Amino acid sequence: MAADQEPSASSAGTFQQAADQLKSAFESRLEALSSQGASPDDGLKALEEIRIQFTGKKSELSTLMASLKDLPKSEKGQAGKTLNLLKRDLELGIKEFKQKLEESKKAAELAREWIDVTLDDTYLASNTRSHRGLGSLHPTTRIQYEIEDVFTSLGFDILDGPHIETEFYNFEALNIHENHPARDMQDTFYLKDGNLLRTHTSTIQVRGMMNNKPPFKVIGPGKVFRCEKIDASHESTFHQLEGMMVDKDIKVAHLIYFMKTLLSRIFDRDDLEVRLRPGYFPFVEPGFELDIRCLICEGKGCSVCKQVGWLELLPCGMSHPNVLRAGNIDPDEYSGFAFGLGLDRLVMMRFQIDDIRHLHSADLRFLQQFP
Ligand code: PHE
Repeated sequence: MAADQEPSASSAGTFQQAADQLKSAFESRLEALSSQGASPDDGLKALEEIRIQFTGKKSELSTLMASLKDLPKSEKGQAGKTLNLLKRDLELGIKEFKQKLEESKKAAELAREWIDVTLDDTYLASNTRSHRGLGSLHPTTRIQYEIEDVFTSLGFDILDGPHIETEFYNFEALNIHENHPARDMQDTFYLKDGNLLRTHTSTIQVRGMMNNKPPFKVIGPGKVFRCEKIDASHESTFHQLEGMMVDKDIKVAHLIYFMKTLLSRIFDRDDLEVRLRPGYFPFVEPGFELDIRCLICEGKGCSVCKQVGWLELLPCGMSHPNVLRAGNIDPDEYSGFAFGLGLDRLVMMRFQIDDIRHLHSADLRFLQQFP
């Protein structure tokens, strides 16, 4: 300010001029800062310097504020207003700029710390994933899923059931009463509380009947347990897939149709040789054993088919009236078929595995053959 304008020239107009100058100086500093393209951290530091310079205790604004008291009363009001407006504009400018910098700081952090939580399926689809330490589906699980697909496409529902069962679900409801010699057909692991480890998935038939009103079609895959002597074709823990269809007028022809459809889809060939033999199971009448020509030795005889060339694959039959009754179904109105597919044998046939013990061995040399 020129000396001749002081002090009386410190009019409201002069204050306005000073305020305008300060404001435009401030704005050009901010513009310069934003065009510098500094990192958000450096920008915040520079902004703090600008804040101190323009609004701090030693700023020109503070000096002007302090000089207000020397103004004549008539000018004080207008000059004070001008300075307050300037102060507000400066503070607002700082605040907005700071917000922008903080946002870009956050965006930079997010970009830096970004993690892909989605599953990369190209990676999973790779044939060599097991060599990279990634797991893959066990062959039994794969076959189970395939069979589930076949049956769901035929309108079947998939059911589940517990491994620990009561005698009722494992035996009684299946027409195997206490002291029935058929209980000896299945060497059972009993628990101390009188329950047992289910010896077959037929328990799921019973649960299926109790929870569904006919007509229905269900399958129930799962682990089963028997106190077996373990050899190339026997394990104490193995897998079955139970199936049951109940409707009016269900006949053996329906059973055969579904079993043939299943096997040809699973083995993807129509030259499979199968044979039906009578088979005894207390819960079906008539009961059958559906055998398949051994695919490992093509019928010549091997350890898996116990040298006979045929493998028992599919016990099945028409549901016994007592079983339907135990499941609250009137056998005079409805009939049904049931089957219990041995999943492990199917897996062995499909992948040419000659010893069932491989399946539960948890041996990576075996499992890595199924990437
Ligand atoms: N549950 C029988 C078993 O494990 C198999 C079976 C199921 C037989 C259904 C007939 C019908 O031996």
